[in-house]
Amino acid sequence: MTRVLSCIQPTGDVHLGNFLGALRPWVEGQHEKDAFHGIVDLHALTITEQPDVVGQATLRLGAVLFAVGLDPDVATVFVQSHVTEHSQLGWIMECQVSFGELSRMTQFKDKASKREHEFISAGLFTYPALQAADILLYDTDEVPVGEDQRQHVEITRDIAIRFNHRFGDTFVLPKAVMPKAGARVMDLQDPSSKMSKSAGSDTGLISLMEDPADIMKKFKRAVTDSETEVRYDREAKPGVSNLLEILSACTGEAPQDLATRYTQYGPLKTDTGEAVVELLRPIQARYNELMADRGELQALLRKGAGKAREVAAATLERAQAHLGLLPA
Ligand code: TYM
Repeated sequence: MTRVLSCIQPTGDVHLGNFLGALRPWVEGQHEKDAFHGIVDLHALTITEQPDVVGQATLRLGAVLFAVGLDPDVATVFVQSHVTEHSQLGWIMECQVSFGELSRMTQFKDKASKREHEFISAGLFTYPALQAADILLYDTDEVPVGEDQRQHVEITRDIAIRFNHRFGDTFVLPKAVMPKAGARVMDLQDPSSKMSKSAGSDTGLISLMEDPADIMKKFKRAVTDSETEVRYDREAKPGVSNLLEILSACTGEAPQDLATRYTQYGPLKTDTGEAVVELLRPIQARYNELMADRGELQALLRKGAGKAREVAAATLERAQAHLGLLPA
């Protein structure tokens, strides 16, 4: 059975880009594939400077993952820090990746430039090594992610090839897989940037738990362009094309076909907003139910960690043996 792994950070609110680009494909894949999904709290530490934030965010994210439809009896949903093998293999991965390779990561360059006068942790720089550990620990075949994570999956592959070459066949080579629509949801106010938790303002971001009236307001105010023609063309018409892609991700129809149905921007904005509200309505209700029983939520995550550890421990042991570390 194909093994799938993908993870999400407990930072900021989960947004529509996370959902369409990643969470929904995870849910769709859980029955045909052997699915592992992590809440990567150690990755969130790269930008955490306050106590009592990450744990709460981790629990809320757990509720989101079950609310969108991951079934704890089917998929393995776990918290990264509960499976200590991630940190252990993470260090080994840091020793297999070069300073030059890490320097070329666009996500690091982006994030570091946004924090220009702030503290930039070394963890922000070595982040892809820990991500490689996340993926390689599970003998992962496929990594379902949004477009922005492609480079991180490629470097993971490069690291695995290097390790296997140096120390003998150890890791499965993973590949990134992306959804047809929704792999790159753009900011509604700045359609040249991806929808992101770290954007300066949230007027272009739709949070998964957002109030329906606010969602409609944000879609109605979405930036389009000064023309009037509804056409799917990402280069020339990024705002309109983003709306068409979001609508396409909600309805399953191709953005090009949807475009032929509209002669004005207004109705496209309203229909897209309504489609998103309807998509999120049951998720919001389920989330509220799950958050009402935090003990049960934690128990589900503990169960996931137990299953994850079984796989991760065997892979770490194999890597340590191939490296030739003296057994304890
Ligand atoms: P994160 O937490 O930023 O995002 C989680 C997932 O959401 C996708 N995504 C998007 N998809 C479409 N449009 C957008 N605007 C958009 N924004 C985010 C991301 O591609 C991702 O799939 N480094 C990762 C977390 C990670 C990971 C891993 C992922 C750590 N270890 C191992 C896969 C495998 C991250 O920061 O994702």
